[in-house]
Amino acid sequence: MRILAFETSCDETAIAVVRDGRWIESNLIASQVELHRPFGGIVPEAASRAHLANIVPLLEETLADLERDGRAVDAVAVTRGPGLAGALLVGVNVAKAVSYARALPLLGLNHLEGHVYANWLVPPALESLEEPRFPLICLIVSGAHSDLVLMRGHGDYVRLGRTRDDAAGEAFDKVARMLGLGFPGGPAIQRTAEAGDPERFRLPRAWLPGTYDFSFSGLKTAVLRLLEDLGPEPPVADVAASFQAALVDVLAAKTAQAAKEYGAAQVALAGGVAANLPLRQTIQARVDVEVRLPPIALCTDNAAMIGAAAYYRLAAGDLSDLSLDARPNLPIA
Ligand code: KG4
Ligand code: ZN
Repeated sequence: MRILAFETSCDETAIAVVRDGRWIESNLIASQVELHRPFGGIVPEAASRAHLANIVPLLEETLADLERDGRAVDAVAVTRGPGLAGALLVGVNVAKAVSYARALPLLGLNHLEGHVYANWLVPPALESLEEPRFPLICLIVSGAHSDLVLMRGHGDYVRLGRTRDDAAGEAFDKVARMLGLGFPGGPAIQRTAEAGDPERFRLPRAWLPGTYDFSFSGLKTAVLRLLEDLGPEPPVADVAASFQAALVDVLAAKTAQAAKEYGAAQVALAGGVAANLPLRQTIQARVDVEVRLPPIALCTDNAAMIGAAAYYRLAAGDLSDLSLDARPNLPIA
């Protein structure tokens, strides 16, 4: 089964073609990073307008590729939430139009479920890859979400914990701004921290004992106070490294604990922050079972992950119709 998938929940306009939930035939992304960079964050209205400008050329390129070698699409999938309302609406309406015009089945997907299914995609560099095994503990960490989820089967999620304030990616982005490192903050902090000492400053960890919840706003405030104390020329690399170490410590400890408590067969990382190298290494070191790590390029927003999730949903009988609407606050479970 070949799925044409759309993703426009935030600041990437993305269209992909995925076969049988695992094989990427096409994966186009129009990034808006340069558009938002001067503002130090995503401007929702600008994001919607850029999606409108980018989506039809991407679709034309994808359809031309399919037609050139006679590959037929069997279904259309699109992110319906969570995300920015105006941004989501662009993808949802274009997907509906294609589904209607070509009489193809339509399915609306959860963006966070998409991030999880990046773990099912066979990386372009590999010929094959074993499917993840259940029960699977998923750490979903993006610019807007930080969820620890027990996945018992396809489409079967129990949310064990969530952030009570900032998302992990949001903390990276805000601290990067305080340090003058620019946008997006995650990759900038990771790069800067490479030259820093992660033990130079002992920053607070919000353990929230007895829960799998996270809280990163205290850490963010601690960095702000530290910078005030350090004066006009702070050791930026050491602050970045110490911040990253504190955040990674909590994410890794809670993930490892959940894997043990729920007898996980494997652990999977998902979302843009899953691209963070120290996070990947620390979780691998602390978790007893195999850790699934999507390639960096499939951690951040893309439509291939939506095509993968859609395959398993369609196989289970899920289907949307033309009343499909954007759901900006859709939770994973
Ligand atoms: O999943 P994603 O592409 O978009 C959302 O769904 O939010 O995640 C974007 C987030 C941003 O906050 C970005 O700073 C963060 O992922 N990110 C990283 C890294 N690459 C992207 N955070 C830490 N380290 C990275 N290497
Ligand atoms: Zn995302």
